[in-house]
Amino acid sequence: MAQIVHAVGHVKLNTNCIADVVRDSTGILGLHVTREASGQVWLSSNGRVAELVLVDAAENSTHTIGLEALTAAQVEAAAGRVEGAGCRITSREPSLDCMDAGVTFTTPEGLRFEIHTPIRNDIHHPRQLGMGVGPRRLDHMNLLSPDPQATVRQLEAIGDLHMSEKMVNDSLTWLYGGNRQHHLLGIVKSRAAGLHHYSFEFPEFSMYCRLGDLLDHHDRQLIWGPGRHRPGDNTYAYYLDSSGAMVECSGQMSTIADDAHFKPNIITNLERPGNVRVMNVFGAPAPLEWREHFFPFTALS
Ligand SMILES: [Fe+2]
Repeated sequence: MAQIVHAVGHVKLNTNCIADVVRDSTGILGLHVTREASGQVWLSSNGRVAELVLVDAAENSTHTIGLEALTAAQVEAAAGRVEGAGCRITSREPSLDCMDAGVTFTTPEGLRFEIHTPIRNDIHHPRQLGMGVGPRRLDHMNLLSPDPQATVRQLEAIGDLHMSEKMVNDSLTWLYGGNRQHHLLGIVKSRAAGLHHYSFEFPEFSMYCRLGDLLDHHDRQLIWGPGRHRPGDNTYAYYLDSSGAMVECSGQMSTIADDAHFKPNIITNLERPGNVRVMNVFGAPAPLEWREHFFPFTALS
């Protein structure tokens, strides 16, 4: 049976500087605005109605992580697994009117997910040219959890996500879904629930040059990269948006086609600097700002 979660769906962020984040997302990253209404701005990099949803709020925080299932029946199947996994359903209605079905649930660790049917997508008109670089799609997210083993168990049980790779001490676990890219989610051990980064895919390496130049134009800079991660084999570069959330731009990942014979990789070399090339093909180590980055989840009642 197909895995319930097929791909990442959308990321919803609260922000107290929505105009600034919209300016970053359009003028630097290269998304386009698809809707502005009811205190929200929806943005997309392609023909999908929404990939990044900004919510006008008093704080900068993560609102919800959207994960896409292919059918309403799979959303219903996920809903039926939530309580058994120790989590709590907060809504059975889709949060956006561009998807047919959705179930939202919270975890005891303070994360909130929505598993929803695919967002409407005009695949015949994927590009809207603007000033920014112009990625291809929302690709993956790394989440922060105070109990990453619990978060991984919940996502395996509810969304049928599978582990592709992990650090032996569970400080970082990568999970894949139905589209078989190496990871849709990375689960990172942290002091509290949050979002480490959200990532849009860059199809060409030259786009990192344009990204760096645009950041410089706005008196900003890359935090790390460009480089190539060993887990996932994707290229990367990172910067912060105006709300303090970290954005990754990543090249295409390796895929797990032979699911039946695939064995997750366990990374045992955890010591820096000896593990730098274990983690990164080009060898540049992650800076402290990247390693200690924390962008919180909103407080969940
Ligand atoms: Fe990433």
